[in-house]
Amino acid sequence: EECVTGQEVSVLAVTDGLTVRPLLPAQDHKRIGEGDTGPNTGGMGAYAPAPIVTPELSTRIEKEILNPTLEALKVRGIDYRGVLYAGLMITPEGNPTVLEFNCRFGDPETQAILPLLETPLDQVLLACTQQRLAQLPTITWKQGAAACVIAASKGYPGAYEKGKVITGIEQAEQHGAVVCSAGTTLKQQELVTSGGRVLGVTGTGETIAQALSVAYSAMDCIQFEGMYYRRDIGYRVLQDVD
Ligand code: GLY
Repeated sequence: EECVTGQEVSVLAVTDGLTVRPLLPAQDHKRIGEGDTGPNTGGMGAYAPAPIVTPELSTRIEKEILNPTLEALKVRGIDYRGVLYAGLMITPEGNPTVLEFNCRFGDPETQAILPLLETPLDQVLLACTQQRLAQLPTITWKQGAAACVIAASKGYPGAYEKGKVITGIEQAEQHGAVVCSAGTTLKQQELVTSGGRVLGVTGTGETIAQALSVAYSAMDCIQFEGMYYRRDIGYRVLQDVD
């Protein structure tokens, strides 16, 4: 296999088996440690839209990756309707290379993409199931950006303890963030940890920096024993701004 280097981006698309439409591109942060160090995880934070995917690159991704993939599915007689998630590497030369495909939404990318979706999601998904995607008006998006930061259990992605009481979610939401449970459960009326990735905290704003600021202010309110989160989500974009 070819060793590809560059920046990863996640291009989630929807398809009804006949037509494929990309959603906003997102960038996940797969490594556990700041500066993209340490072992891979399911994803420690994401933002959308990912500016590395310029309109020109987006057109290329559609033409060179998404459309041919759908054609290949058709040739094989596979009537696939739903989310087609292309995990891509954008090489230093600016070329998109496929790392993987998933037949599902991405986590945490979806937490950063869906808050920006203006077209009702149910209309998009229903059009996929009924093979009406081509007739659906262009999918529209809100201005601005969204960013999701993951709170994980100490030790993740290795062994970790469960059952730690989680507090501060209401206060976090008062900062305007959306808090999604990932690895949590209710135990005697208390919300406790039950997984490696515990919560996804999403902020929105006019810029990625503003969205991150909302997410991190909200994260400051949340506590559980051993809670860990990366404090550098979006660092590539923030560096570019500086
Ligand atoms: N965030 C990576 C994935 O959903 O596979």
